[in-house]
Amino acid sequence: MVRHARGDGPPSIYLINNAALLSPVGPAETLDLEEAQNHILTNLAGPIYLTASLLGAVSGSRLDSHVTVVNITSGAGKSPYFRRSVYCAGKAGLDMFTRTVAHEQAGRNLPHRVFAVRPGVVDTSMQTLTRNLPDEATHDRELFLRLKRDGKLLPPDIAAELTLRTLDDPRVQSGDIVDVRELYPDHVAL
Ligand SMILES: NC(=O)c1ccc[n+]([C@@H]2O[C@H](COP(=O)([O-])OP(=O)(O)OC[C@H]3O[C@@H](n4cnc5c(N)ncnc54)[C@H](OP(=O)(O)O)[C@@H]3O)[C@@H](O)[C@H]2O)c1
Repeated sequence: MVRHARGDGPPSIYLINNAALLSPVGPAETLDLEEAQNHILTNLAGPIYLTASLLGAVSGSRLDSHVTVVNITSGAGKSPYFRRSVYCAGKAGLDMFTRTVAHEQAGRNLPHRVFAVRPGVVDTSMQTLTRNLPDEATHDRELFLRLKRDGKLLPPDIAAELTLRTLDDPRVQSGDIVDVRELYPDHVAL
């Protein structure tokens, strides 16, 4: 996404790394290695590649553009989610990539911004997949079934709107890992 400042100012460029996989799910010794590799390529290497390419392109151009990178992360980057070790590893890696790039940008003249957003529990196909895992697959399946039953899942359009709101939220600093439930408690019931 590119936004032009009023007048002839340089454009601001926004990269939101949202694409992700949940699978493979299961004990580590049973994981399909090809599926695990594809997962890490999508959830971690993809955002690294896109961020590095964008920052490289901007720094190599004459355009004085300002870049904001938003990595969509999850509480899985912080706490172990039973039998979702690859998902947790990918999100933890994404969080550290976010913090490290922000740290190296902080010393620059016009630092680009990089932060990560936890969107809450969102009513998407990833949640459907979680609810449909075999009973023994996770310790928290009942929680997600209950959230769905009680209408507590965040609609995807609201999650997207709140994520976009972080772009201009002065409370969000480069290097932060923010949770929309904490930033906008009036909009998220969880
Ligand atoms: N849902 C939640 O409760 C929840 C909670 C915390 C964090 N998140 C995070 O929120 C983000 C969005 O998740 P979601 O819930 O919307 O999941 P989702 O319903 O499974 O959607 C995942 C999206 O990623 C895309 N994708 C997957 N692999 C791709 C690839 N190799 N190249 C391009 N696109 C690819 C999919 O595109 P196709 O449809 O074309 O395959 C789909 O649009 C993810 O980063 C997820 O980890 C979700």
